Amino acid sequence: MYSTLQRLNHYGSISTTFVMVLLGLISLASFFTLPVIEPGSVSVNDVIIRRGRINHWGGPTEEIASMRFDMRTDLTQLLNSYNTKQLFIYLTAAYVDDVSGDTHEVVLWDRIITRGSIRDFRSTGDAVARKNRSHRAKIRMDDVKNKYVWRNPSRSFKNIHNANITLSYHLMPYVGLVTSGVAATARGMVEIPDLVKK
Ligand SMILES: *[C@@H]1O[C@H](CO)[C@@H](O)[C@H](O)[C@H]1NC(C)=O
Ligand SMILES: *[C@@H]1O[C@H](CO)[C@@H](O)[C@H](O)[C@H]1NC(C)=O
Repeated sequence: MYSTLQRLNHYGSISTTFVMVLLGLISLASFFTLPVIEPGSVSVNDVIIRRGRINHWGGPTEEIASMRFDMRTDLTQLLNSYNTKQLFIYLTAAYVDDVSGDTHEVVLWDRIITRGSIRDFRSTGDAVARKNRSHRAKIRMDDVKNKYVWRNPSRSFKNIHNANITLSYHLMPYVGLVTSGVAATARGMVEIPDLVKK
């Protein structure tokens, strides 16, 4: 004879198992139906190398790169997938030091787009489109500056001649694994200019 408590426990574990199986199926299903997006474009307007200090309170001067860029891409498919909790998008520069042969990858800009987010990604465009929530994953940004400092471990860019600029995403689902992909790329490698001398 089962006591009431044992019975409750029994039902409890059945429903837990049921929920686990259901969550497993959801994550499998969303893994197989993951939307595929066509990567958009990043166009770099300019890259400037200057000498400066990262730390305002002293420290050595070093070469610091700054970049301005435009982005166009449409992530609506990713954001509208029912299992998407949020998207993390980030722009990187990847380049090789011609002397040491080392490859570096630096994050220059990032942002999180949540499912419920109504904040738009248009720094340009008309006000009506800006208010339309179904456009919120259509990224159209002009003249964006790098958000994080772009420095090189050797403190100089003199052995760096060009870089690959890529906007990548991590899709964080409610259930299941994080998946990643490319949201936009610059066409060809971007030239890294010489130091601007004052
Ligand atoms: C830059 O992109 C090209 C073409 O995709 C690739 O062959 C090269 O290895 C990339 N370089 C770096 C440093 O990622
Ligand atoms: C928002 O955009 C969608 C897709 O382009 C369109 O169907 C809808 O009518 C728009 N809504 C408003 C309020 O403009």
